[in-house]
Amino acid sequence: MKYWKWMMGALMMALVSIMFVATAGAQGGDVTRGATLFAANCAVCHGDRAQGRVGATLAKDFPAIRVNALLKQTIANGVAGSVMPAWSTAKGGPLTDPQIEDIAAFIQSLSHQAPTVIITRPAPNVPTLGRPSPAATMPPGNAERGARIFAENCAVCHGARGEGRIGASLQKDFPSVNVQAALDATIARGVTGTKMPAWSKAFGGPLTDQEIADAATFIRSLKKPVELPAPTESIPQGGNIGGWLGLLCFGGVVVIGALVLWFGLASARGKSAPPAA
Ligand code: HEC
Ligand code: HEC
Repeated sequence: MKYWKWMMGALMMALVSIMFVATAGAQGGDVTRGATLFAANCAVCHGDRAQGRVGATLAKDFPAIRVNALLKQTIANGVAGSVMPAWSTAKGGPLTDPQIEDIAAFIQSLSHQAPTVIITRPAPNVPTLGRPSPAATMPPGNAERGARIFAENCAVCHGARGEGRIGASLQKDFPSVNVQAALDATIARGVTGTKMPAWSKAFGGPLTDQEIADAATFIRSLKKPVELPAPTESIPQGGNIGGWLGLLCFGGVVVIGALVLWFGLASARGKSAPPAA
């Protein structure tokens, strides 16, 4: 009887510890997955090693007792009044809660020492360009270089082809006389009150004027998404039926036109002619 009591006790202990490990694991998030997500979404502003760029350094000790909760909250909701976007799907962002969990785990793995897992950003997938339109009066940008700069800095918010994500769609005709100049200025200064950061070095950003001109030139090459033509109807084969039909129709129109003219003239003559004496 005593023996059975001990057995039950041991079993309970085992169960409890398994549950504990399981829940701890579920809360932990996956550091490697987090590193990949970080490289894809956050490195653009926080640097490949979270050392800081447009955004703050994240390789540090956070002043909180529940660091994990603070991080998740900040990532999910963004930082109001700064360009730090809200990332959670609940706030209209692109990341799920488990993904945010993974990223938080990665950031926590950094603390202030050298990061243990570093995944470099994948080589950007540079879209093929249409023919770049000639630059206006601004210092010339290069659309090919701009495509790379865009992929590295802007695609995270504006989508790979500028189709829009957190940021607005850039596939459009911009309402400006000098589009290049307007784009240069917007990219350099950002859009205050939105998540669009200032990119020029003059405004504390990471890009040179040349790089901004390049990005702007690339954006101008995007225009609207190309509308595909409606699928062509199957063209009737066999002889020149279409041509004959056309000729027949044309002939019909000519005949009707002539008849209308003839009747018109006849009735006019009938009215204007003096009554026969
Ligand atoms: C457009 C640039 C940008 C992007 C992209 C961005 N951040 Fe930020 N982030 C910022 C800025 C700027 C701040 C600083 C806000 C402030 O305190 O003024 C910040 C702050 C933070 C903070 C708080 C830092 C602190 O010291 O409290 C965390 C955590 C953070 N970001 C995580 C992330 C994560 C994770 C991602 C990717 C999912 C990300 N950020 C993407 C710009 C960005
Ligand atoms: C953190 C997200 C984010 C990043 C990164 C970002 N943008 Fe933006 N951008 C925005 C948002 C949001 C808007 C929309 C502002 C508004 O509401 O008008 C915007 C607006 C713009 C506009 C104005 C669009 C218009 O319709 O007038 C341009 C141009 C632009 N961004 C270019 C860029 C370029 C170039 C880069 C990279 C160097 C970049 N953005 C990076 C978020 C971002």
